[in-house]
Amino acid sequence: MTSETPDPSKTVPLGDAQGATEPTIREVERSIQQATKEGTNLDTLIGRLVVDTGLATSDEVQRCLDGSRAGGDPSDRSLAQALVDNEFVTKRQISRLRQIIEAERSGQTIPGYKLLGKLGAGAMATVFKGKQLSLDRDVAIKILPRKFSSNPQFVERFYAEGRAAASLNHPNIVQAFDVGKAGDYHYFVMEYVDGRTVYDDIVKHKRFSETEAIDIAIQVAEALLHAHERGQIHRDVKPKNIMINKDGVVKLADLGLARALSDKEAAEAESGKAFGTPYYISPEQIRGETTIGAPADIYSLGATLYHMVTGNVPYDGKNPSSVMHKHLKAELVAPDHVNAKLSAGISEVIEMMMAKKVSHRYRSCKDLLGDLRAVRAGDTPPIAHKDVFDASALASVVEAEAEAAAEMPVDASREGSTRSPFTDPLFLALVTMLIVSVLFNLVQLLV
Ligand SMILES: Nc1ncnc2c1ncn2[C@@H]1O[C@H](COP(=O)(O)OP(=O)(O)O)[C@@H](O)[C@H]1O
Ligand SMILES: [Mg+2]
Repeated sequence: MTSETPDPSKTVPLGDAQGATEPTIREVERSIQQATKEGTNLDTLIGRLVVDTGLATSDEVQRCLDGSRAGGDPSDRSLAQALVDNEFVTKRQISRLRQIIEAERSGQTIPGYKLLGKLGAGAMATVFKGKQLSLDRDVAIKILPRKFSSNPQFVERFYAEGRAAASLNHPNIVQAFDVGKAGDYHYFVMEYVDGRTVYDDIVKHKRFSETEAIDIAIQVAEALLHAHERGQIHRDVKPKNIMINKDGVVKLADLGLARALSDKEAAEAESGKAFGTPYYISPEQIRGETTIGAPADIYSLGATLYHMVTGNVPYDGKNPSSVMHKHLKAELVAPDHVNAKLSAGISEVIEMMMAKKVSHRYRSCKDLLGDLRAVRAGDTPPIAHKDVFDASALASVVEAEAEAAAEMPVDASREGSTRSPFTDPLFLALVTMLIVSVLFNLVQLLV
């Protein structure tokens, strides 16, 4: 026994309140990997870790070991207990060490990578910053909860989609690097984006200027076009998945990331979290349709753009199901009615992106990009604008025809009003004159 109080400088690395600092995690990882290889028992491992992290000297650890073996209270006093009793470490430091050991032993050590710290967590996974040792580069590692490993179909999809994602290569897409399993955990390794998400910006300054928002949307649409052309649909376009790096380049995250739940369930799983997915999900995903295509991503990008330029989500409600109900049924308040500073053009584009019927939406990101670029240049968006015009023109034609049909079920004279130009005498005369003139010229040439 000793009356020595612990040296405060020794307690820094595993400081109680804040948890371990980075270098300590590395040291601990190294020790654990070594000890695990050697099949070391927990007591010896704790002894080694305490020494490695500078909490106690090897002499002190030895003294505790001798004491716990030879002392009056023998076998069941562990080294950990002896270290605490001797005040070399605190109880909290020991429990923190145990947590780290358990995490590492259960597979959170990923071969070839070093975990550096947590970047964030979503409804479905936790994302860590890591270092890929072979290439000495920073990466982001998404680690899925252990419960998903028990679902073989999900695991299969996870790998298939991971491979598909890795086949994409585009400056506006977060590059997928690797998928794998370590211990009980499945992980997904991707490009690390040093920057912020659109969500962070919305929280900070609420609204984007129209040009800023369009510049971001154009880059996301480019990323989506690249993916769609290769048969991949994102299914979860939202402010948190749009990152902007330090150079201002937009990086769309989570493309091709398989999900364990249906889109609707995934959206619901985020309920209670600010700006959860139900704010951006497309009507066809809510309905659980099986063929989800490019227009679903265009809808979600439209909802994201709506949020960026108006400062409001397109539909809000008390709970996820009321928000989803509005995606299906409620009329959208035009963006330029919420923010009068917006151009009519951007409003038309967003409304077309968010059309409830797939057939009324942009068919592809190529069409969408044409309109976004037009608005950015201060012009009218050709497709959205034509669509607004066509929709009203079509409605009046349909109405007029329906009325006429009701009044005159069979009316031969109506056929005259829709006659073909080929039966028009003036048209026929002009064609005849044209043929005569061509023949005349030919004859002249031959003579
Ligand atoms: N490639 C990455 N580089 C840097 N940070 C990332 C990366 N991917 C995700 N993140 C961060 O991790 C957080 C959690 O990501 P995720 O689990 O996909 O949930 P969500 O997208 O719902 O936020 C993100 O909000 C983001 O801040
Ligand atoms: Mg994400």
